[in-house]
Amino acid sequence: LLNRAIVQTQVDSTQILAKAHVNDTDNHFIVLSDEQTKGRGRFNREWSSLKSKGLWMSVVLRPDIPIQKMSTFNLFISLAIQEVIEQHYHIQCKIKWPNDIYIGNKKVCGFLTEMIADTDGVNAIICGIGINLNQTQEEFDKVNQSRATSLNIENGKPIEPYQFLSVLIKAIEQRYDQFLNLPFSEIKELYKSKSMIWNKTLTYTEGNKQIVGRAIDIQDNGFLTVISEDGDLHQFMSADIEI
Ligand code: BTN
Repeated sequence: LLNRAIVQTQVDSTQILAKAHVNDTDNHFIVLSDEQTKGRGRFNREWSSLKSKGLWMSVVLRPDIPIQKMSTFNLFISLAIQEVIEQHYHIQCKIKWPNDIYIGNKKVCGFLTEMIADTDGVNAIICGIGINLNQTQEEFDKVNQSRATSLNIENGKPIEPYQFLSVLIKAIEQRYDQFLNLPFSEIKELYKSKSMIWNKTLTYTEGNKQIVGRAIDIQDNGFLTVISEDGDLHQFMSADIEI
């Protein structure tokens, strides 16, 4: 499925380059770069993407689906990344709903999903994934990212980016196929067991709504149910979660 790639040594952002090429072809493809000078995360936050320190990539997919189905896409993708880190690198890690992977209390991976759609449905998904592979703790501290970690910090071994990429692509292909063909309910229990937010009182922010509460369940459409301190139930489609 994902057998085409644009590979660069330096770009502003793989996400920007992927969007620039999205109309060149009807195929799926990935965009990779050793370094990004303008890597961005959710909420337009800066995403540090130093040369050869991580996997900085964007995956362009072409599903034939209505827009509403997109609400569970991130959940399938997060499982793909989580299982590669756990099964191939033997490092315990958890999904922080909806867009991050954490090792303990430190972030190792973030991703963001954008799409091009019209009334007929989704035309393209552009999923940008950043995975910290070879940074040292000093490198993170220097850029005020003491809450970040890399696979190298966690298992003491240098990580070969293309090796990581090849297993990740297989995992993404499998989970993408499931995303298209299975209801989320089929993998919901697995997802919940790999997710870190249960049984904790956390602050959830979505737009100008902010509540302090505990996540209790995830719906079949991917929405998170949170119970606030006063006992009210709230549904979040996405949220910024402070841990
Ligand atoms: C986040 O945690 O907020 C998401 C981070 C996403 C970073 C990746 S790196 C490859 C792609 N290009 C970007 O500019 N951002 C994404």
